[in-house]
Amino acid sequence: MKAYRHPDGSVWTFRPDRNAARLRASAERFFLPAPDDELFLASLRALLAADHAWGPAPDGERSLYLRPYLIGTEQFLGVRPSREVTYGVIASPAGAFVGGPERPADVWLSERHVRAVPGGTGEAKYGGNYAAGLGPYAEAEAHGCRQTLFLDAETRTQVEEFSGMNVMLVTGDGRLVTPELTGTILHGVTRASLLRIAAEDLGLTVEERRVSVAEWRERVADGTFSEVFACGTAAVITPVGRLKARSFEVPPARDTAGRVTRALRERLTGIQYGHVPDTRGWMVKIHG
Ligand SMILES: Cc1ncc(COP(=O)(O)O)c(C=O)c1O
Repeated sequence: MKAYRHPDGSVWTFRPDRNAARLRASAERFFLPAPDDELFLASLRALLAADHAWGPAPDGERSLYLRPYLIGTEQFLGVRPSREVTYGVIASPAGAFVGGPERPADVWLSERHVRAVPGGTGEAKYGGNYAAGLGPYAEAEAHGCRQTLFLDAETRTQVEEFSGMNVMLVTGDGRLVTPELTGTILHGVTRASLLRIAAEDLGLTVEERRVSVAEWRERVADGTFSEVFACGTAAVITPVGRLKARSFEVPPARDTAGRVTRALRERLTGIQYGHVPDTRGWMVKIHG
């Protein structure tokens, strides 16, 4: 999650209750205890009290990246859930990762490796999940891409998500399409929030459903999918450029970084930075 400075100098965070709930759901997968909402918020406030001078800066899109974590710390050699667990929060000043609003990121389609399997750990926010993406990341970099797009493990035909972001596709007739949560996709807080902003504030029709690579290829080519973007706390919203694969390449959608991508980004960051009224109680003050 991130801390954002508002115009009056106070520092706020976005939907900490959902982040805390996801930490607990993720911890359950590993039989680890996790903090309740109260301890979670108190930990963020304690960190900001000590480290507020590190940011976030009031200008642009800079923020303070917050990383709450749990780690088994029992002194024991063996394979079972740890009986002693340390909960901590670390922070780092951050800009917008990956590309930024005007810089579409080319993405690499991982056809050989998957990120998550049914019944595995992919739905949890878990450090080990990122290890599965490291080999494919090297492959992506070698092809000039900065993100890897993963497919479902069973059929290798359905689009799931990027290594650290969810994916959304926009149609010219006002639909926002994103892969449905099947148990192998991370429940992104940005994803959930954008779906609501799209439906409630922008009047878009939201579709959570399966999206195949074949559909991506076909509908970007015929112009039905007019915008494609990645979303997550770190990258906020980053337009997707080319989709590159071993045997084919899909050009950027015809209206890349277009109207819907920009409107969603403006609305979301407006709420986060305190320029747009927060009508849903998503923002919680943590300092100042
Ligand atoms: C695999 C993965 N998908 C999606 C996301 C986006 O989630 P959120 O919007 O909660 O940051 C993340 C965030 O770190 C992630 O690691």
